[in-house]
Amino acid sequence: MQYRKFGQLDWNASALGFGAMRLPTEGEESGDIDEERAIEMIRYAIDHGVNYVDTAWPYHDGNSEELVARALKDGYREKTRIATKLPSWLIEEPGDMDEYLDKQLDRLEVDQIDFYLLHTLNKKYWENYKEVGVFEWLDKVKEEGKIAYPGFSFHDDLETFKEIVDSYDWTFCQIQYNYLDREFQAGMEGLKYANSKGLAVVIMEPLRGGKLAAEPPEEIDEILSKADTQRGPVSWALNWLWDQPEVSLVLSGMTAMDQVKQNVELASNSKIGKLTEGEVRLMEEAAEKYREISPVGCTGCNYCTPCPNGVEIPTNFTLYNEAEVYGKFEENKNSYYEFLDEEQRASACVACGECEEACPQNLEIIDLLAETASYFNDS
Ligand SMILES: NC(=O)c1ccc[n+]([C@@H]2O[C@H](COP(=O)([O-])OP(=O)(O)OC[C@H]3O[C@@H](n4cnc5c(N)ncnc54)[C@H](OP(=O)(O)O)[C@@H]3O)[C@@H](O)[C@H]2O)c1
Ligand code: SF4
Ligand code: SF4
Repeated sequence: MQYRKFGQLDWNASALGFGAMRLPTEGEESGDIDEERAIEMIRYAIDHGVNYVDTAWPYHDGNSEELVARALKDGYREKTRIATKLPSWLIEEPGDMDEYLDKQLDRLEVDQIDFYLLHTLNKKYWENYKEVGVFEWLDKVKEEGKIAYPGFSFHDDLETFKEIVDSYDWTFCQIQYNYLDREFQAGMEGLKYANSKGLAVVIMEPLRGGKLAAEPPEEIDEILSKADTQRGPVSWALNWLWDQPEVSLVLSGMTAMDQVKQNVELASNSKIGKLTEGEVRLMEEAAEKYREISPVGCTGCNYCTPCPNGVEIPTNFTLYNEAEVYGKFEENKNSYYEFLDEEQRASACVACGECEEACPQNLEIIDLLAETASYFNDS
């Protein structure tokens, strides 16, 4: 395993972290974790040098934290650090934060959580946290020894990201980042910004939740196959991240043992600067081609957000693009209805036109949202 400096800490994190959000299940229900396989996978990763396991209150219908506790028995707890997250959407008053943290300490069967994140911060949750006194609370629980290092995971625009980075003495943050999403949310600029402020940066969704593990469309394959070293799609995507010095750790939510083995092996051979300049350029070209063959030329820059009516403009376009480029209509249609609230969906656009003025790509956002809604049968 390769290890990387974790921000300002006197500790090195394994290049790969285990994300306990996509564990194997026994049936259709996410809460029905296949315990034997999941534990075997987590322990295999730790036996091969992984020293960071990431879970959260809601994963697997609330069963992930307890599963992690069981996986870390028999001496595994001592070999790894645990990250979990305060469920931001459930916090209404100051006492709620203590209540959830105490429950998580019980679920995880530990006296202290190593890395504790405010989960999925966006403008709304951030404002609420400030109102309930989150800074004083984090100071208090650190003092009490219930958490060692505070951090946050993030899903909003770059400006909000920078504001949050500058608001508290965080040890680390967690962002969605991959070679197609270099401008999405915090993006590459956010990564560099957090790094320059001394935060460790943990990467989530390095394979866009699995989409980048699929065989790429022919046009993209043609570009990547020009490289001197031939790689599979997972290797391209993960090595693009590990190539960057600002990346502290890449989390992968692995569903099967062969994925764990492959990702552990890739991490063991990873290093900063592994890709040649030519390969990095080819990956930029591939990302450019991806945008070209996508029905909507959205770069995810977020200049158009927030929509005053709450429409999640770039997320709608990403779902539409991925569904077309990778042939994942059913999967992305489910995500459209499952992960977007009614007011966030393309169909909620009232055509006020505010966003179109802000779009550097000059996209006809109103028409494209109507097209997206109709594509997902939401009109
Ligand atoms: N804080 C937050 O807001 C937040 C949000 C998202 C994620 N996270 C955390 O970040 C972790 C990583 O994100 P993610 O799970 O979305 O990561 P990801 O790596 O983008 O996606 C994981 C999926 O990629 C596929 N995969 C992984 N390795 C593979 C391999 N070697 N070969 C083929 N397919 C492979 C699997 O898909 P299939 O199952 O289709 O095979 C797997 O379920 C999560 O597990 C979670 O712990 C946090
Ligand atoms: S045109 Fe639609 S998406 Fe754009 S700001 Fe107005 S309501 Fe939001
Ligand atoms: S629609 Fe335009 S402004 Fe909005 S994220 Fe996409 S490219 Fe950026």
